[in-house]
Amino acid sequence: MADTFDLIVIGAGPGGYVCAIRAAQLGLKTAIVEKRATYGGTCLNVGCIPSKALLHASELYEEAGHGFARMGIKVSPELDLDRMLAFKDEAIKGNVDGVAFLLKKNKITPFHGAGRISAAGRVEVTTEDGSRQTLETRSIVIATGSDVARLPGIEFDETRIISSTGGLSLAEVPKRLLVVGAGVIGLELGSVWRRLGASVTVVEYLDRILPGMDGEIAKSLEKIFIKQGLSFRLGTKVSAIGRAGSGLSVTLEPAQGGTQDKIETDVVLIAIGRVPYTDGLGLDELGVVRDNRKRIAVNGQFETNVTGIYAIGDVIAGPMLAHKAEDEGIAVAEILAGQAGHVNHDVIPNVIYTTPEVASVGKSEEELKAAGVGYTVGKFPFLANGRAKANRTTDGFVKVLADATTDRILGVHIIGANASELIAEAAVIMEFSGSAEDLARTCHAHPTLSEAVKEAAMAVAKRAIHM
Ligand code: FAD
Ligand code: NAI
Repeated sequence: MADTFDLIVIGAGPGGYVCAIRAAQLGLKTAIVEKRATYGGTCLNVGCIPSKALLHASELYEEAGHGFARMGIKVSPELDLDRMLAFKDEAIKGNVDGVAFLLKKNKITPFHGAGRISAAGRVEVTTEDGSRQTLETRSIVIATGSDVARLPGIEFDETRIISSTGGLSLAEVPKRLLVVGAGVIGLELGSVWRRLGASVTVVEYLDRILPGMDGEIAKSLEKIFIKQGLSFRLGTKVSAIGRAGSGLSVTLEPAQGGTQDKIETDVVLIAIGRVPYTDGLGLDELGVVRDNRKRIAVNGQFETNVTGIYAIGDVIAGPMLAHKAEDEGIAVAEILAGQAGHVNHDVIPNVIYTTPEVASVGKSEEELKAAGVGYTVGKFPFLANGRAKANRTTDGFVKVLADATTDRILGVHIIGANASELIAEAAVIMEFSGSAEDLARTCHAHPTLSEAVKEAAMAVAKRAIHM
């Protein structure tokens, strides 16, 4: 007799485990199937958490070497890479153990193994030793996440030709690192290894870094990165990677074709995006529709074309972000419990955890122009913010985009220290359809970096005080 549940979630990443917890809170008998030994998915094991631990540690290392002296702190930092990697592993362990505790506390039944949907309402779990078990359920949520995109003909060995996963565990700092892709991973991990001593070149297919991000912000960040020592080859593609002595020889050519050249390096990090991970789930046999980018098609309730099968997170359309997956997990659990779960996909913040940080929510100027929406811009530089001056973190600015007619905030873009935290108030005000005037009239503590957000909102009506 098969075990029977109200809900089986396949995949215990931020989408899946959060969905399972919310469903259990709402009284659904819930199981979760995970093929990895630990919970937390890409984000906790090989994504958000380890990359942020390394970004934090490497930033302090660089600051200790180059920033402390001017504050009157004399130190000569020495890198202990093994300890730094152990610090990162401790961050992973603390987080994945936390999820295990929460699943237990919420009485969610765990199954370790690969899940496959053999029919609507039926999930087969195969463990590593090959034993198989069948579970029955009213609903299934697919939350199997994503995998790294590959360059055709190039295999990862995770020591010299690496994906982001290898980039979180290099046993020594490479003298030369070539990063393919000037997206989020390339810039975050490129920054980590540059701070630790690598000479980093980033090759990008397009003629700009961070496609999709507000152009002015991306341009400004590129200039700061160049000052920090990153070098860029934009409008360029990698056509081959070969061995050259103990290193690698990478053949580059202009994206639109033309004369090739070669560059020698020690390690190549390929970070050209991620693809939904939906192999082996039995989707084709069930007739579950996917789009041309292998993303599972769902309706407004996150349900696929097959009744009772739902999907959330990186396997469906939208930004591949942990908090987007989590909010979808909560929404679908509430829908399954008969409530009105909903995600406002227009207000999903996006953060890049480099120095300075970059954070945005809502529309970019390019998107507003393309949509023919009239807008007003309010900008305020951190150079004119008291706290930033005191901390000497004056790089960057805040930009508020407001509807030219109604003053409603349509987008907020921040480049600067602590942008990852500053963006939250922009998301809240946008969630309440607030105006630049609302933000401008909200009292902000002094001295804080958040005053720059207020001043940018004031600048929409050309009345910033400290400019
Ligand atoms: P995942 O986290 O990928 O989880 C899916 C889970 O399903 C995995 O544990 C997998 O083992 C399991 N699974 C797959 N198939 C099966 C199966 N058949 N049976 C059982 N289990 C299965 N996002 C942010 O928002 N902020 C960041 O700072 C950030 N940093 C990142 C850094 C890196 C280096 C990377 C690679 C990603 C980063 N991301 C970040 C993206 C973030 O990790 C993903 O958007 C997020 O993990 C997606 O959550 P998910 O639940 O959809 O899938
Ligand atoms: P990405 O989509 O952010 O960037 C990939 C870059 O590679 C793009 O600039 C693209 O134009 C370029 N590219 C594609 N093919 C190429 C080629 N053949 N040669 C050269 N350049 C090429 O993808 P990335 O950085 O791999 O990250 C994947 C996803 O993981 C992100 O989109 C994001 O959703 C998530 N992530 C989020 C983070 C955060 O929130 N801070 C951190 C890291 C990852």
